[in-house]
Amino acid sequence: MARSLLLLPGDGIGPEVMRQVRRTIDWYNRRRGLDFGVEEGLVGGASIDAHGAPLTDATMDKALKVDAVLLAAVGGPKWEGLTFEKRPEAGLLRLRKEMDLFANLRPAVVFDALVDASTLKPEIVRGLDLMIVRELTGGVYFGEPRGIEDLGNGERRGINTQVYTTSEIKRVARVAFELARKRGNKLCSSEKSNVMESGLLWRQEVIALHKADYADVELSHMLADACAMQLVRNPKQFDVIVTDNLFGDILSDEAAMLTGSIGMLPSASLGAAGADGKRKALYEPVHGSAPDIAGRDAANPIAMLLSFAMALRWSFDLEDEAVLLETAVQNVLKTGMRTADIMQPGMAKCSTSVMADTILREMDKLSS
Ligand code: IPM
Ligand code: MG
Repeated sequence: MARSLLLLPGDGIGPEVMRQVRRTIDWYNRRRGLDFGVEEGLVGGASIDAHGAPLTDATMDKALKVDAVLLAAVGGPKWEGLTFEKRPEAGLLRLRKEMDLFANLRPAVVFDALVDASTLKPEIVRGLDLMIVRELTGGVYFGEPRGIEDLGNGERRGINTQVYTTSEIKRVARVAFELARKRGNKLCSSEKSNVMESGLLWRQEVIALHKADYADVELSHMLADACAMQLVRNPKQFDVIVTDNLFGDILSDEAAMLTGSIGMLPSASLGAAGADGKRKALYEPVHGSAPDIAGRDAANPIAMLLSFAMALRWSFDLEDEAVLLETAVQNVLKTGMRTADIMQPGMAKCSTSVMADTILREMDKLSS
């Protein structure tokens, strides 16, 4: 029974960083006797160019059948004029929605070797290890009504709807409480309950769930603006943060920069466990398609590689193999090897492929 993966490289730097994951998968099959079966597909602008849509039904079907999907990045200036349903991002949103990937785990970990790459003072970020759990299939990203209306008097109106139900809030909060238990046992829930009804409901439901099932976890609440501020003031106060789709999008980019570069942050998007205990899952770096550096072998492949490490852990229960890849990344960073985004004085600048070569060699060493 092969472990099945669907790789969706997407746009911009996507194909370059995904190539390095493919090599890493081959490495696991060859060196560790694993049996990953890989299929590739198109998403985003690449799919628009080939098929006229950001995701085809055939690719959607494949995504629903495999054990895990790995996606690199979508979007770029070429497709910016399109309507929302036709844009590259719509392909990613369709995957998230139809796979029902409601829990998005975005860990922000500062590796010792990169403490100085952060724009924040070393003492603020050293040893940082936090996890943002972002709700991923609800809120303003999917709420109805939405659209741009012509009011007929020379004015137009843009509309989006922020909406959450009890069950949507509870299922993502449950994931966050469970994660907190396995970590520092602290959960901070973030919303804008001072101005938004959906935020007030969020707070009430999290409190109710805490009381019912997770009273042992230390729970706090923070308004999302204050949370943005505290993330740069004193990020180490956080263990797990749970928040909605939009605030999670913003707070996770901010958290990424604590680690030195958005090129370092992986993510896992998980659905509910099925009858067989398996969750649908998609793994992607937090960074985007970076069209400005695409095709130049200059991107940082680490966020994509660490996303695959998350797949090893969460979809395949291969904790040791995940740790092997993560350790190799850390060891290579310790040697001073740096892609442009994390380059610092006195370090050795390298390309996407050389970074991956070096990580694979380190994996050879660690596993021999
Ligand atoms: C992310 C991205 C996406 C989002 C875009 C590409 C649709 O910014 O995964 O954080 O807004 O969710
Ligand atoms: Mg984002």
